[in-house]
Amino acid sequence: MTTYKLALIPGDGIGVDVTDATMKVIAAAASRFGFALETETFPWSCEYYLETGAMMPADGIETLRRFDAIYLGAVGWPATVPDAVSLHGLLLPIRKAFNQYANIRPHRLLPGVEGPLKSDAFDILCIRENTEGEYSGAGGRVHQGTANEVAVETSVFTRAGVERILRFGFEQAQARRKHLTSVTKSNAQKYSMVFWDEVTRELAAEYPDVTVSHMHIDAMAAKMVMAPQDLDVIVASNLFGDILTDLGAAIQGGLGFAASANISPDRVNPSMFEPVHGSAPDIAGKNIANPIAAIWSGAMMLDHLGQAEAGAAILAAIEAATAKGIGIRPGLNTTDEVTAAVLAALEA
Ligand code: IPM
Ligand code: MN
Repeated sequence: MTTYKLALIPGDGIGVDVTDATMKVIAAAASRFGFALETETFPWSCEYYLETGAMMPADGIETLRRFDAIYLGAVGWPATVPDAVSLHGLLLPIRKAFNQYANIRPHRLLPGVEGPLKSDAFDILCIRENTEGEYSGAGGRVHQGTANEVAVETSVFTRAGVERILRFGFEQAQARRKHLTSVTKSNAQKYSMVFWDEVTRELAAEYPDVTVSHMHIDAMAAKMVMAPQDLDVIVASNLFGDILTDLGAAIQGGLGFAASANISPDRVNPSMFEPVHGSAPDIAGKNIANPIAAIWSGAMMLDHLGQAEAGAAILAAIEAATAKGIGIRPGLNTTDEVTAAVLAALEA
């Protein structure tokens, strides 16, 4: 029997609640589809930081490298650890160290879920660059605390980095409705974004079956509200993709439905799967977090590991649950109730 080694990092807040829920569903899928899971749970979190002074041990990355995939709940507990410390100590270094350059985020309405828009017929796949761009980490501050203080944070766009994410986007478009929209701000940012547009045009010639549109981030924000049904695959830089995928979460009914995968496409290193919603300290541990985004991210993990049938069955089970009205609005059901409904549908 195939066995997958999974590293679990529940992290902070509702990350713990939804990781538990997801692992119940993943375990049920494993027994139904005939594969095995070997999981190891790491306590790396803001609490761990307060105890040890670091979000993960110095050899954390090396430890994770041995796994087939990483499942992460959420990181952040701003009341005790500043977000810029916790995120730069755990989530962001994992994405970069393992070259998880493609952050995939699907946006569509699950059956029974009412979004805020008139249109319910959209099915968008956002491909966010996940290792460089505005999140390069290049920068610094001088003259701190004085009137002459300067803070610089430089976006870094490399040809290798831009080309690989665009190729990934083109390939995703080929597997879907064959339309790619590249999102930049090349009317204002004349170096990096003009460069991105040029690379897009160069590559487009290699994917003649894909139609390509270029849009600016501001216009895209409006488009996702006014006419999301016209979009198929979107590809964007790290920060632009971050912003658009919260908008995507909003139009799909909320962050409780927004799944994501941090993919390392060459498969040399593990990929990481996490819901988009974050740690939500206000509702942590109350059994009210919606686990759907997390479970959907788990389905993406199984799909990536080669268990496409199991991944599809989990997604179908989520859809069966929401079609019955389970988990379709915040506060409607407990985490346990939603998980039980998904499990029942999976086992039916
Ligand atoms: C996300 C999150 C992270 C990001 C934060 C927590 C650093 O917002 O995954 O979308 O900006 O990448
Ligand atoms: Mn975000």
